[in-house]
Amino acid sequence: MEKGQLRAYKAHCLILPYPSQGHMNPMLQFAKLLDHKGVRATLVTTRFLYKTMHSSGSSSAAWETISDGFDDAGRGDTNTDIYLRRFWQVGSKTLAELLEKLSNSGSPVDCVVYDAFMPWPLDVARKLGIAGAVYFTQSCAVDNVYYHVHRGLLKLPLADGHSQISLPGLPALDPLDLPSFVYDCRSYPAFYSMLVGQFSNVDKADWVLCNTFYELEEQVVDWMAKLWRLRTVGPTIPSNYLNKRLKDDKEYNVNFFKSDNDACIKWLNERPKGSIAYVSFGSIAKLEDEQMEELAWGLRRSKSSFLWVVRESEATKVPKGFIEETSEKGLVVSWCPQMEVLAHEAVGCFVTHCGWNSTLEALSLGVPMVALPQWSDQRTNAKYIMDVWKVGVRAPTDEKGVVRQEVLEQCISEVMEGEIGEEIQKNAVKWKELARKAVDEGGSSDKNIDEFIAKLQNKS
Ligand code: UDX
Repeated sequence: MEKGQLRAYKAHCLILPYPSQGHMNPMLQFAKLLDHKGVRATLVTTRFLYKTMHSSGSSSAAWETISDGFDDAGRGDTNTDIYLRRFWQVGSKTLAELLEKLSNSGSPVDCVVYDAFMPWPLDVARKLGIAGAVYFTQSCAVDNVYYHVHRGLLKLPLADGHSQISLPGLPALDPLDLPSFVYDCRSYPAFYSMLVGQFSNVDKADWVLCNTFYELEEQVVDWMAKLWRLRTVGPTIPSNYLNKRLKDDKEYNVNFFKSDNDACIKWLNERPKGSIAYVSFGSIAKLEDEQMEELAWGLRRSKSSFLWVVRESEATKVPKGFIEETSEKGLVVSWCPQMEVLAHEAVGCFVTHCGWNSTLEALSLGVPMVALPQWSDQRTNAKYIMDVWKVGVRAPTDEKGVVRQEVLEQCISEVMEGEIGEEIQKNAVKWKELARKAVDEGGSSDKNIDEFIAKLQNKS
C-alpha cells in the first residue's frame, strides 16, 4: 500500500458536480484524489453532458448519469430558473434510482458529495440513510457573503451610496467587490436564488468541503468552521501540476470545448521565458463588444506577446483583421489546455476574468495576474488577488465599466516588469509553495481529506 492511502474499508462516494466546466473540473480532481487514497469515487453527470463532453485522457474514477430532464438535446436556451427546477425534480428522482441501483448491485454508496449549487441531493441521500457532504466550488470569502445574505445579515438591495461592507473574516469590501449577484441582486434572479440557496439545508450536511486551502483564507475559514464541520480540501487541480503525480494520473480535464493542445504548446515552446501574457475569460463570461475591442487593441499595444483564448461563441467580437495583423506576436485559439499553458515557462502573466478555478490554478502555479472580473464571484476574487494575496493588479475600468486599451497595456507591463512586478512575482512564488504544502502529505488539505475518509471508513 502506498503512503497516504487509507485502506481499511473501501468506502464509496458519489460525486455530483453542477453541470458546467468550472464545477466539473475541481470535483473531478477531488474524485481522483479520493480514488488515490483508496476510496471508490463515482462521478455523476447529466445524460446529455456525458454524451457531449471530451476527455483528453482516462480516469480511474467511474462515471454514472442522472437526468436533468433534457437528455436528448440539452437545455439549449431554456431559462435558468425553469432549468434548475426541472433538474431538481427529475434529478432527485433519477438520483434516487441510481443510488438504489448501486446498492442492489453490491456497490452501495456511503456518501454523496454534491455541489453546493444544488442542495437537493442531500435530501435524496438522507431519505436513503446515506451521508451527505456539500462541496463548495467557490472561495470561502464568496461563500461567506452568500451565507450572510441567506441569513438576512446582509440586507439587499444595498442602500444607495452604501460605503464599505464589514463581514466577519473578510477585509472591508466596497460594494463593487461583492459578487455581482449580490451587488445587482435583481439582475439575475435565478442565479441569485441558486447562490443564496446554497445554504438552505447546509446545517443538515455531514460535511462542508471547500475547494480552497487553509493558509489562503485562514480568517474566513476559521469563522465558518465554527458554524459547520467545514474542511478545506483544495486546491483540487490536476495533481501533476502540484508535483504530486497520482497513480493512473494523466493530464486530463473534462472539456466541453475542443482545443488543439499541441499547436498551443508548440507556439509557447518557441517563445522566451516569461514573455507571454496568457488571456482567458473561462467557459461562460461574455464580453461586451466594446470591451472585446479594447482588449484586442490593448494586446496589440502591449510589449508582450499573447496567447488569447476566444471561445467560438465570442469569435465575431474580435475586431476584423486583428488576428492577421498581430500574427507575429500573438496566437488566438478557441480553447487551450489551461493548466499546461499556465505551467509553461514562456507565460509571464495571466489576464483573467478571475473565475475561482482560474484564480486557484494561477496561484498554485505562481503566475501573476491582471484581473478583469466580469460577473458572479469574480470581483471578490479580484479584490483578493490585488489587495489580500498581492499576486496581481485589478485593471481599473472607466465610467462605462470598460477597461481601456492603454490601461490594459499598462497593467500587463506592471505585473511583468518593474518594482511592482517584482513584488507581485515574489508573492506569486510564495503562494505557489503554500498551495503545494497544503496538498502534500500532512499538509492542511491533505489532513482534512484523510480525516473525511477515515470517518467514512469507520462508519461502515
Ligand atoms: C464558472 C464561474 O464563472 C466562476 O466564476 C466560478 O468560480 C466557477 O464557475 P468559469 O467562468 O468557466 O467558471 O471559470 P473558471 O472557474 O476559471 O473555470 C474555467 C476552467 O476551464 C478552468 O479549470 C480552466 O483551467 C479551464 N479552461 C479555461 C481550459 O481548460 N481551457 C481554456 O481555454 C479556458
